[in-house]
This record gives sequence, structure tokens and C-alpha cells, in this order.
Amino acid sequence: MGKVVKWVGIAFGTAVALGIGVTIGWFSKPDAIEDPVSDLPDPENDGFDFKLIDEFTNAVDKKFLEQETEHLSTKIRWATSQGDYEMADYIINKWKDQLDDAWSLDYQIVHSYPEEENCYARLVGGAKEFTLRKKEDAEELQNDDQVLMFYNAWAPSTEAPISTSKLVYGHYCNEDNVNWLLDQDSDIFDGAVVICKYGGGAGRPDKGKNVKPHGAAAVLIFSDPYDASDPSDKDFPEGPGIPEDTVQRGSAKYKRGDPTSPGYPSIDGAYFDDLEDLLNYTRTQVESPHIWAPLPSQPIAWGDAKYLLSQLEGGPVNSEWISETALDTLENFGGSLKDNQMFELQIAVKYERKKSQDVIGIIEGSEYPDEYVLIGNHRDTWVKGAIDAGAGMTTIFEISRLFKELEIRPKRTVVFCSWGSEEHGLMGSIEFTEEFLAVLKERAILYVNADVSFKGNEYFYSSASQQMHELVFELTDYIKDHNDESMTVTERWAEKTEATGRPTIGNPGLGSDYAPFHQFAGVPIVDVGFNQKTRKVSQYSTYHTGYDNLEYLHMIDPGFSAAKKVTEIAGAILIRAACSDYFPVDPSPMADYVDSLDEKLPEVGSEVSTEQQNLIKRASASFKNQLRAAKQIYDDSDSMDKKRSFMRLLNYSKYLTDQNCCHPIQHDLQNVVVSSRQEGGPATYPGISNYFGLGDKEEIQRQVGILITRLNAAADYLNLKPFSVRANEL
Ligand SMILES: *[C@@H]1O[C@H](CO)[C@@H](O)[C@H](O)[C@H]1NC(C)=O
Ligand SMILES: *[C@@H]1O[C@H](CO)[C@@H](O)[C@H](O)[C@H]1NC(C)=O
Repeated sequence: MGKVVKWVGIAFGTAVALGIGVTIGWFSKPDAIEDPVSDLPDPENDGFDFKLIDEFTNAVDKKFLEQETEHLSTKIRWATSQGDYEMADYIINKWKDQLDDAWSLDYQIVHSYPEEENCYARLVGGAKEFTLRKKEDAEELQNDDQVLMFYNAWAPSTEAPISTSKLVYGHYCNEDNVNWLLDQDSDIFDGAVVICKYGGGAGRPDKGKNVKPHGAAAVLIFSDPYDASDPSDKDFPEGPGIPEDTVQRGSAKYKRGDPTSPGYPSIDGAYFDDLEDLLNYTRTQVESPHIWAPLPSQPIAWGDAKYLLSQLEGGPVNSEWISETALDTLENFGGSLKDNQMFELQIAVKYERKKSQDVIGIIEGSEYPDEYVLIGNHRDTWVKGAIDAGAGMTTIFEISRLFKELEIRPKRTVVFCSWGSEEHGLMGSIEFTEEFLAVLKERAILYVNADVSFKGNEYFYSSASQQMHELVFELTDYIKDHNDESMTVTERWAEKTEATGRPTIGNPGLGSDYAPFHQFAGVPIVDVGFNQKTRKVSQYSTYHTGYDNLEYLHMIDPGFSAAKKVTEIAGAILIRAACSDYFPVDPSPMADYVDSLDEKLPEVGSEVSTEQQNLIKRASASFKNQLRAAKQIYDDSDSMDKKRSFMRLLNYSKYLTDQNCCHPIQHDLQNVVVSSRQEGGPATYPGISNYFGLGDKEEIQRQVGILITRLNAAADYLNLKPFSVRANEL
């Protein structure tokens, strides 16, 4: 029995080499029908020939990557724009040609847009009136009415026009910065407009969140070259530094997905919550938790911030802040303006429910058609988005092109996804996972994400679910570095990140479309990208600006070598998972992570009693024991239960999600072990940590119960003897 499958596995590799791969599916299917157990893979062979990886990586073509990037980056493609819809059609046609089939899934999602004619920010009453830019200076952007002004999606409108002399500099507007200012003057924020800069551990909505309780009216946010560029960078287009006339746009949402349809897809016939109620909540809610930015928020160019700072009075800022800026006008923290000037601000936002498209393309698996391996990226941008989302799109287009060119017929069904409206809070992927939650839990074994797949050309990096670390390393150990063939991708990655031993794979966060797969469905994910070691901040300088364009891309990845390498790696991971019976899985990164969370439990003090802490540790110990046991069976190549254990080692994370974990507002956090800690609590289990941070003692108790239940459920799922884990506890 095993032999049949082994033969198919080997023949598959050969057939691909001969270019007749498509026919293999036909030959293998009759065997599968005659022989009821032949879908058990050969225990001695994982049914995979690495020649296929060689063939694929050799075929990845810089010329095609460049052509696609050029085509993409001529179009303005913000979510629901004409360019976005046209791009969706382009992708459907491409995938219809390259894959078995492709189509669009449409959702009706609320988006927020700026009402440009009603927005202004200016200094008045002085010798000269100073009006802040709404867009980049470049003529091609100024003259294009498709370019939206600088804005933070999901930050509210100003309730009434603001006219104030209280302009305050808040640095990163993180908690430390806010406290320092309060020490100078406890009323400093009352009615103030606060100038904040990106970074400093406070995300877009956090700036307003931190100053609202002290009475602030609105925030302005700029990108300081100190944070966004390297000191030696000349400003773009002379070099890769951030020019003075631009700023990062972006969403300022906490709770991701369409806020009016939590837990359900925004399809025809859906019930929608009243948006006015949500807006009212935003207006009236002062302390955390928030749905999105609780204060109006306006991104401004650093050239404009520089001038505003020069007009501030008030006392001197501290020396640390001076050492952390590239703006030589920073001197005073403000509270009043020179020459009795006033600052006038109006931010006007409109909300519209609009069609957002997810494009899906599939290629059916020849052996395990009901096991899905997905790869995806978003399609929407802020302006032209050569890198965000162009880089990931070209990566995925090249992979789909090569599935056709090399006639790859995977064993598992491969699903290509192009998400809509990611930039507005992962809308497309969240609505999709909400619609298909049950089937994803049942059939999806991996989601690969390639968003900003290259933002530098020095080294590969990844974040991934713990059980996928081994798969990532298998391929990065196998594939060679893009500059030096004597080194592997892993070795370069370790060198550039100064890792002793293996480089670190990050935990899945909330930064891109993998989040709902990880958080709602518990589907294992791998996110890939290429980075630059020298850069101080994690993003590239023109991120979410009008200058994320082809010219900038050529500057950071000359010759498209990072583009090619990341495509090789992403494609190799996809092919390895889709075309083989087995692939490497290792439960130890998960066991280690659980240990690290257990260790921090005492930091929640008496809110979780010693007895409860012991119960949590008993559940986590059962879970770890079952992980180890499953791995032992999987490693035993003669075991009849090898395939069962393999599937368990992939699927267990589906039992670790719970819709009542882990946050009262951010329902996008549902993984009881690996979720973001959002409320400043200790680095232990996320549900407990978040409610600890929010000071909700009663809810902490419920989170303990949820956690124990989920850990037990995962342990029971891993165990070959069902329903027995708790009965066997000592
Ligand atoms: C707005 O929210 C506040 C606080 O939750 C509530 O008291 C008030 O009734 C709400 N107003 C409207 C119009 O819903
Ligand atoms: C694990 O997941 C795969 C793919 O989703 C599915 O086909 C399989 O039935 C699951 N296995 C078990 C044992 O639950």
C-alpha cells in the first residue's frame, strides 16, 4: 500500500521534470479508489523530491518580478478605488489562466475616508499664515485626484473646528513621554492639540489614547527622520531617507475587521450594528478599551512639524528628546505659541459601506484535495504601493505563474488569495475567515502570507506559528543566500540578526492578513519578508507614503535580488507543504513558549491564586506531554499512527482559540496562548494579561477557566485515546 504512494511521490517529481505533471493526478486517483488505505502516506518516505524545489527556485525570474512590479506601481489602488477594482479583475483573469479556477468574493464593508475639502490645519495670527500640506509636493501626486490626502483611517472627526494656542509637543506620546509633560504642567493637555511622532512603542491609535484622559482634543503625527531614516541617508529621491513633504498614512484601529459585523461576514443579508453607536462610544469613552483611535488624528509631513516646533513656547524639552530627533527646531514643549498665534484644525471623516473584494484562485490537490494550503497577500495600498502591497503581490504572482509553467499539480489543494481592504484593519481576510471559519478549522493546514515581502535586501526573516518553525528552517537551510552561494539563507539571517545558533522566528502579531487565520481559525501560519539590518525602525522610510514607488524599490533592492530570493523561499514553503505527504514538524518551540508563559504567571500576583496557577500549570503540562508523545509517534517511521500524529501536530492550534479570549473589545484576539498583550499586563497568557492590565478582576477568573479548558482540549486532541487527558491527571 505504502509502495503505491511512494511510487506516485517519486513519479510526481520526475513527471514535473518532464513537464507532464498534470496527468499524474489522473493516474493516481484510480489507485486511491481501489485501495481504501492508500491515502496513508508511505511511512518511510515523506513523498517529496527536492528536485521540485530546485526546479522552482531556478525558474523564479527577476524579469517577470520586475514587469509585474512596474505594472502594479503605475496604479493608485487604495481600498475600493477604481484602481483596486481593476486590479481585482486583472488578478481573476491571471489566475483563471494559471490555475484551475478563480473568482471574487464580495463583502460590503464600512470604510472611513477623509472629506478633503473640509479638512485643514494651519497657524494663523502671526506674521505669516502657515498651512500644513495635505499631500506630497511631487507634481504627479498633487495633480492626481485619485491620491487621497494624508489621513489616519478610523480616527474620528473633530467635533467642532478647533482654534487653540495650546499646541504641545509630546515626542512619541507614549506613557513615559506623557508623564514627563504632566510633571512639567499638570494641565498641559487640557484642550490641547498634541504633536506626536511615530514610534516609541506607541502605535497609531495609542497616541490619542494616551493623551485623551488628560483632556487633549486631537493629535498630529509625523515621521521623524531620526526614526524613519538612517543618519547617513539622503532624502528620497537622492537617497532612501524620508523626504520632508511626506508622512505615513495608515489605519488607527484597535479592533480589526468590519466593526459593524463582529464575528460575522459582511455579506448581503448580514445584520449590521449601528455605526452611530460605535462613534458615540468613541466620543464618550475616555479610558481603555477603545474600538479605534479615541481622538481625531492627523498625520503631517515632517517639514511641517519642523516649522510648528519652531513656533512653540513653554519650557525646554528634556535632553533625551533632543537627542532623539533629527529636527533642529525642537526646543520647547509648547502650551502656547509665539506672537499670539493660534492653531486651527478641522478633521472631517466620512464613513461609507462599499464593496471590498477578496480574489480566490485554486488548484485542486491530486491526493488530498480536502487539505488546503493557502497563500495570500492584500491588494490595497495607500497610494501606489510598489512595496506595500506590490512586493507581496509580485511574489505571489510569480508563484502562480510557475505553478502553470512547471505544471505543478500539488497533492493538497492550493488556494491563492488576494485580500481587499487590509490597510483599513485586515478587513478582507477577517470577513473571509468569519465566513469560512468552520471549513478552515477542518481543512486548512497552512496559510502563507507575503505582504511587504521585501523592504530591504540584506536578509530573510519570518514570523510563524510555533509548529511551522521546522518547515521554515528546512527550506532556509536548503536554499542558498542571494549574494553568497557558499552560505544558506539561515546562515545569513543568523549573521545579520547576531543570533547565536538559529535565528529567531517571531510570533504572529496583528500586522497583516495572517492574523485572523492564527487568531480565529487556529490555522498554522508563516509570514515571510526580506529586511535591512542597518535600519533603526522596522519599516522602510517611504512606508504608506506617496513615495513607495518603483524608483524607491529599485533603490532598496537593486536588481530585484531580494524580490527573487523571498519568492523562492515563500514558493518553496508552499510547495513543500502542498506537494509532500509529510513535512518536518517540531512541537518543542510551542512547549518552550508555554513554559515562558507559565514562568510569568506569578507576576499576576494574587489576582490568580496559587491554586489556580497550579491548575494552569497542570493543564499546560498535559498539553506539553501530549505534544511530546505525538512527536514520538510521528518520528517512529514504522508507526501505523504516523499520519494521525502528523495531522495532530499541525492541527492542535485549532483547539487553542476561543471567542471569549482575550480582550473585551478586540475580538480579533482569540488565541489563548499566542496573542498580543495589549494592555500592559505581564508577559503571561494573553487573556489573563489583558484583563490584568485593564484591572478587571472578575474577568481574569473567567480567563483562567477558558485557558485551562482550551489547553485540555488541545491535549485531548493530540492524544490518540480520546477524552482521557483529564481522567489521567495525577
Ligand atoms: C453615547 O454614549 C454615552 C456613554 O456610553 C451614553 O450615555 C449616551 O446615551 C450615548 N448617546 C447616544 C445618542 O447614544
Ligand atoms: C487536520 O487538518 C487537516 C487539514 O485541515 C484535516 O484534513 C484533517 O482531517 C485534520 N486531522 C485531524 C486528525 O483532525
